Amino acid sequence: MARNSSVYMGVHHSIDKALGIRTQEQHAQLREQMLGYHPLTAHHQDRVGDMSRIIAEGMHLPPASVEKAYLAGRMHDIGKLQTPKEILDSPGKLDGHERAVINHHATDTGIILREKVDYPKRLADVPSVAENHHERLDGRGSPNALSAEQIAIETRVNTVADVFDVLSHGRSYKTPTPIGKLIDVFDRGRGTQFDSAVLDAFLHQPASKVLPLMLSEGGSISRVAPTFRKVEIGDLLRSVKEQKPLPGSSVTIDQINSFNTLYMRPQS
Ligand SMILES: [Fe+2]
Ligand SMILES: [Fe+2]
Repeated sequence: MARNSSVYMGVHHSIDKALGIRTQEQHAQLREQMLGYHPLTAHHQDRVGDMSRIIAEGMHLPPASVEKAYLAGRMHDIGKLQTPKEILDSPGKLDGHERAVINHHATDTGIILREKVDYPKRLADVPSVAENHHERLDGRGSPNALSAEQIAIETRVNTVADVFDVLSHGRSYKTPTPIGKLIDVFDRGRGTQFDSAVLDAFLHQPASKVLPLMLSEGGSISRVAPTFRKVEIGDLLRSVKEQKPLPGSSVTIDQINSFNTLYMRPQS
């Protein structure tokens, strides 16, 4: 299994407990279904939920918003249960029809969550938060081409967490994106695809919090993570891009080297 989830699974029991047994069971059932259908997507959703929570807490959002961002993140791609596996695992560029099929997963996420999960009142909009994770502030997203003020803050959090996870994790057919390109995607999308405040909250997180989600495989990263406690993930990634410590940051060359070793190791 590629980069398993053992390090970060089960970290957020407090939210899970507060959910109520019924909702919790319904979420668990959907997760099980995804684990059986497409494990890479199941683990991706787990990480996006966890990363969303870290960002939402970093922004000091109210507890109900943190909860929504976390839960929507954990389920945002559940609509991919309806996407044929050959398309999910297609190694090449998708054709127009395949693209349309895969793009439909966001709408399906909303449908599935509305049909299969009973959310308590305070969390009633989790399905729409999750459904909108491919929307963009500039209105060029999908499936509903919403624009800035129509996109919930929790969705904006999910979007940053989602793109970060997709770029930084290999799939069965490709290796992770070079860090330089990853940073460029965020810089280019600031204010158009990504909410600046969300992006800043993400980039200012201690690298020791983000790296276990980004690099986890067995216990290796949890041993290494404390080394990165005093460094912000944004500074670390930009220093890695330059392959030298960024002026004014506390990143060391040893940290850059150890990040390189962890990030570029072969995917299993
Ligand atoms: Fe998605
Ligand atoms: Fe996703």
